[in-house]
Amino acid sequence: MTAGRPIYLDHGATSFPKAPGVVEAMTRYLEHEAGNPGRGGHRLTVAASRAIEDAREEIARFLGADPERTLFGSGATFWLNTVLLTQLNPGDRVVTSALEHNAVMRPLRWLERSRGVEVVVETGEGLGGLPSAEGFRARVAAAPTALIILTHASNVTGAVLPVAEIARAVAPVPVVVDGAQTAGSLPVDFSNLGAAAYVCSGHKGLLGPQGSGVLLLGNGIDVEPLIRGGTGSRSESEEMPQHLPDRLEAGTPNGPGIAGLGAACRWLDERGIAAIAEHEQRLVRRLAGGLSEVSGVRLHGWVGGASHTGVLSFTVAGHDNGELAARLDRRDGIMIRPGLHCAPAAHRRIGTFPDGTLRAGIGPFNTDDDVDALVGAVRALSSR
Ligand SMILES: Cc1ncc(COP(=O)(O)O)c(C=O)c1O
Repeated sequence: MTAGRPIYLDHGATSFPKAPGVVEAMTRYLEHEAGNPGRGGHRLTVAASRAIEDAREEIARFLGADPERTLFGSGATFWLNTVLLTQLNPGDRVVTSALEHNAVMRPLRWLERSRGVEVVVETGEGLGGLPSAEGFRARVAAAPTALIILTHASNVTGAVLPVAEIARAVAPVPVVVDGAQTAGSLPVDFSNLGAAAYVCSGHKGLLGPQGSGVLLLGNGIDVEPLIRGGTGSRSESEEMPQHLPDRLEAGTPNGPGIAGLGAACRWLDERGIAAIAEHEQRLVRRLAGGLSEVSGVRLHGWVGGASHTGVLSFTVAGHDNGELAARLDRRDGIMIRPGLHCAPAAHRRIGTFPDGTLRAGIGPFNTDDDVDALVGAVRALSSR
């Protein structure tokens, strides 16, 4: 590896480092607050409950949601499964985009096979597989549809889907948005998105710890719990309580993770999501510009402009993605991710299946120098 500091450019997978204050909040929770929240009334239980409810308020405010309908779970995957597996019944029809992560496609394919749910993929005529509101409107007009599920931004190309426009076009069919790639990277106001539900990871753009994820529920949707168990409330009953958040949060929660996520959202709020989005978009444009001047480099699904996250996919003619990524790490200290990024459908759609791409993911702490180092290293490796 070169003498320089390691450069982390894999924010599409998970954020690193975490927001300032996250480690301190998690440590404080574990050292001073780690009773079992909502279970009993002693001081540590009260402290744990307060830490979690403070985090809930913080995150709800940051994403424009109702705190009571802001639910904590282990990640986006858990909440996507919860929504899909409890909302879709035998014979139902669901429409999705061609850019989905396996956290959506795998439960959908399982539902198709085991429950006879009809899964319709709206391929999208747009550049990079981007679907249009018109395409979804036509799908919904063609047959009764129980649910639309779609990613807010592709985790492969970084392109942002017009989810608010789609939600307006298909109303009153409920739209569930996979916001794993957008929460903390783009301004999100759930109250104005028109979606029935929005799911996101705590560990990506929100800059919190792994093992945390959030479900925002609108008023028009009532999701059943995927798992059932103790909540500390209504303990006389062998049925789940009806009130939220308890109905959807069975078992002891990830207290340290939630406290860390709350601290991350506080930092994001202070820094300002508009400034973060602007920073990441400026850097991804710089990266796209630099890479497109390197001979043999091809960008995939790059639509440019503001409708993009900090994620960018590219390949280098004549070079294997895995080998290039390993060399970038070993030789230059630059961390990016090769392959299919758990999204084979998206790679099929943009024509990069089965080899996949190299994916760079920019975060709020990356700099012009980081981006220029990646461009320089790719230039050096591609000419070998
Ligand atoms: C678009 C998309 N959806 C869902 C997920 C799964 O998120 P989590 O790791 O929080 O379960 C990811 C993570 O890679 C993602 O990129």
